[in-house]
Amino acid sequence: MTKGVDEVRAEIPFLQTGIIYLDSAATTPTPRPVIDAMLEYFHEFSANVGRGLHCATKMATEAFEATREKIAKIIHAKPKEIAYTKNTTEAINIIAQGLKWRKNDKIITTILEHHSNLLPWQRLKQKGIELEVIKPLTKECLIDPATVEATIDAKTRLIAIHHVSNAVGSIQPVEEIGKIARDNGIIFLIDAAQSVGHMPVDVRKLKCDFLAAPGHKGLLGPQGTGFLYAREDRWNELEPLLVGGGIVKDVDILHHELVDPPQLFDAGTPNIPGIIGLGRACEYVAEIGIERIAKRERMLTRRILKILDIENVEVYGPRHVNRRGGVISFNVKGLNPHDVASMLDELKRIAVRSGHHCAQPTMRYLGVQGTVRASVHYFNTEDEVDKFVTTIEQIAGEFG
Ligand code: ALA
Repeated sequence: MTKGVDEVRAEIPFLQTGIIYLDSAATTPTPRPVIDAMLEYFHEFSANVGRGLHCATKMATEAFEATREKIAKIIHAKPKEIAYTKNTTEAINIIAQGLKWRKNDKIITTILEHHSNLLPWQRLKQKGIELEVIKPLTKECLIDPATVEATIDAKTRLIAIHHVSNAVGSIQPVEEIGKIARDNGIIFLIDAAQSVGHMPVDVRKLKCDFLAAPGHKGLLGPQGTGFLYAREDRWNELEPLLVGGGIVKDVDILHHELVDPPQLFDAGTPNIPGIIGLGRACEYVAEIGIERIAKRERMLTRRILKILDIENVEVYGPRHVNRRGGVISFNVKGLNPHDVASMLDELKRIAVRSGHHCAQPTMRYLGVQGTVRASVHYFNTEDEVDKFVTTIEQIAGEFG
């Protein structure tokens, strides 16, 4: 039996407060079974992992390690290809700091990235790495694979691109770009922060070498969790960001020998309850069904896109629902996006994000300071998004 919308809504305590939550691109509220999995850890076996031999530490280690398999299932990977991180940002920084760069290597990324898929590459300029930032052909914000292909040269070592834009919702042609990268022997990294849990993601089909994703967005897991997928044969090219306790085979006063990946990336006491919660969240999302989530989000997005017909409202990103995820960015002419967001909150308790969405280059490309951003998940209802549309109509009519 798959989980229906009413059942899921009833299982998310935060939604019982009456909020209309349209901010899932920032983070999602946590379902009760995920909270319960974390409480079970605190109540029943609240011990450290990979250290000691007592019963509680064995239970904690088992539950902690089991999450790798649960994440792997969601993205069609192997458990040993999954390293835990605290968020997408950390996962991307592991790649940026962990690969052995050669002077004059080139990285290709796009002007549409979240800052977390831009700043780590900018930082590598200190090591003599060149960064080429490509633009979409139109304001629909879709990257043309031909542009990527034309930008590749003999120095290109890595292509880093988002799957779904957190700022305007465009779904990028990552499968085609993955093929181009593979054919040219270039490392391919996908920032899947806005796609995993929202739509099918298959790392084999996408031909990516690395994929970074959060636990607390599409997957409905707790905040402070995320993961890095690395194709099995790529791990040996990466140094861990942190070294220290919990990841050693042997240590002498001047030398150390470290464990193999993916546990190599678990230095220090990790977020044990969070990772256990993330494992339960992956099961929860699978119980709903990723295809069902994607279908419902497309339906909700289509309804939200009725704002395209409102006078004084400008929507950014692709017009067609098949080219966008459930992230809808817009402005009401003459109004500051923060004012629109505040009015939505005050008038109808509708929660959206406003501002630059950690994507300032995208905003500059669009010629705006910021936008209002509504974003959906499976648990949103038709009534909620319709109320959102009529409230925007009201705001644009009265103040726009
Ligand atoms: N990256 C998150 C967002 O886009 C926080 O809102």
